[in-house]
Amino acid sequence: MKHLIDIMDLSVAEIDELIETALDIIKDPEKYQDVLRHKKLATLFFEPSTRTRLSFESAMLSLGGSVLGFSEAQSSSAAKGESVADTVRVVGCYADIIAMRHPKEGAPLVASMFSPVPIINAGDGGHNHPTQTLTDLLTIRREKGGLDNLTIGICGDLKYGRTVHSLINAMSRYRNIRFVLISPDELKVPDYIINDVLKKKNIPFKETASLEDSMEDLDILYMTRVQRERFFDESEYMRLKDSYILTPEKLINAKKTMSILHPLPRVNEISVAVDNDERACYFRQVLNGKFIRMALILKLLEVI
Ligand code: CP
Repeated sequence: MKHLIDIMDLSVAEIDELIETALDIIKDPEKYQDVLRHKKLATLFFEPSTRTRLSFESAMLSLGGSVLGFSEAQSSSAAKGESVADTVRVVGCYADIIAMRHPKEGAPLVASMFSPVPIINAGDGGHNHPTQTLTDLLTIRREKGGLDNLTIGICGDLKYGRTVHSLINAMSRYRNIRFVLISPDELKVPDYIINDVLKKKNIPFKETASLEDSMEDLDILYMTRVQRERFFDESEYMRLKDSYILTPEKLINAKKTMSILHPLPRVNEISVAVDNDERACYFRQVLNGKFIRMALILKLLEVI
């Protein structure tokens, strides 16, 4: 049985296959509308979500399946002390596949060791968010036409932003990729990613605190929110939260073809004045999230 806990669980060939399936779903959604009739997806969300949970549910419904689950730990027996292992053993009796978000790093991995059905990591603490990365890859593929030969700027909270960690891992497997990592000193990419991914694979990268300095070089600008829920000290969050605010003025030197992505939710880091810029892809990215999750559910249930 296959689970998706880390984006590196998938080979490049498997990611390409998922992207091709998503593109086929976009082209011909009716072909897929009944393929999962009588199958059930459980969404176990121990942490808040709008996009990930609802896109999983929308994906399953669009495949003809059904959904069940909970959207906060307090409405489940986790509030009475039930373990993740017992929770998935139980839910596996009711559903064919489980998407789980949890504030603790590694919780979906533990779940995968006990679950009788496939587990999808829908975000674990500040660690990984592989289905957001699949969304990002489909978006880059659709916006840029491919996943090679790109200079990718990633800006904001690179320490706690789990989407950033998964994205660096994933993009480091494509050809001729360069990263510009833009953050305050306190929110830099963790050392284990710098050493075990970027340095180990000889991927060119630059760390900088300036959003403007490298703007003209970027093919993609991936903005992220400062992750308030991961801070131990609220005053530290308040000090750092507005480190970067993307405005139309800051885009003056950017390439006309640059794509602006954001996993969302946005707080203040992209001005709404940027939304009408053709380069702003973040709402198209949201829609891609549903299609790639449809493809993923089909793969894990061995329908494709
Ligand atoms: N991008 C993302 O994970 O959004 P949600 O927290 O709303 O699911």
